[in-house]
Amino acid sequence: MSAETTEANCSKTRNPFTGVEADAVSVRVDGLSKKFGDLAVLRNISFDVKPGEIFVIMGPSGSGKSVLLRHIAGLEAPTSGTVAVDGLDPTLEETRDRVRLALVFQEGALFNSLSVYDNLALYPREHRSGNEMAISERVMHALKILSVEKSANQFPSELSGGMKKRVSIARALVMEPQLLLYDEPTSELDPVMGATISEIIATLKNEYSVTSIVVTHDRDLALTISNRVGILMAGKLISLGTPGELRKSQEPRIVDFLNPKIDIEHPRFKQLETPENP
Ligand SMILES: Nc1ncnc2c1ncn2[C@@H]1O[C@H](COP(=O)(O)OP(=O)(O)O)[C@@H](O)[C@H]1O
Ligand SMILES: [Mg+2]
Repeated sequence: MSAETTEANCSKTRNPFTGVEADAVSVRVDGLSKKFGDLAVLRNISFDVKPGEIFVIMGPSGSGKSVLLRHIAGLEAPTSGTVAVDGLDPTLEETRDRVRLALVFQEGALFNSLSVYDNLALYPREHRSGNEMAISERVMHALKILSVEKSANQFPSELSGGMKKRVSIARALVMEPQLLLYDEPTSELDPVMGATISEIIATLKNEYSVTSIVVTHDRDLALTISNRVGILMAGKLISLGTPGELRKSQEPRIVDFLNPKIDIEHPRFKQLETPENP
């Protein structure tokens, strides 16, 4: 069964560490708009993500993808409209206590002064979840899932780009997330490592049934492992559908985004679309 024909059929998410099932979370974005000063970055965006789904948000640089993801993570509050994770406002402290949510940052956001092991142990230590032995089991298990257990004692500066991304995903797994948010997980990687990360995202979804929202401009990732794809341009959601529907789209902006032709007679940079000039 291909990803796109798979209904998000897992209503439960199984914790990769304990095997205990928890309710998978849904995400609802309703009429979300965000302004920074006069700059309208998100404009009236609405969509639903089902529990267990891999939902991809694609769009050009500067279209508002990271800002949208930060709203879902509760790191940013809407100017108008609402975001709900499992029906709850993600900016509230009590939501963070009830819903386990992890964000894999674009730049990895690992602490350079800490070893890989200590980077992963930070969250469970801070939340006093278990003694050192239990934490060690969790950390090593997460590193093993991502095949980076041999790097436990290395420092982030000693890792390749692909390993850093895998360690960042392992760190998110230690939080035992019900919702995993990825910001550009394959950017700056060679195509093979990009494909590897896509396989990891799909595997985590299949084995642990976590809800995944992936911001990317990696067309292969979007068209192969996602259940649905939303396209964001200049802060607007201009398309929402399955990978199959997206491939068939005749909308010129989507065709050009997915298969850009290099046209030196009519160069695009002369007619760039920006949030100020949609
Ligand atoms: N905290 C902020 N303050 C002001 N402008 C911001 C802030 N964060 C993002 N922006 C602007 O919002 C727009 C969208 O940014 P972003 O979501 O990072 O784009 P991308 O789609 O590349 O992830 C950009 O014009 C960016 O400069
Ligand atoms: Mg971004």
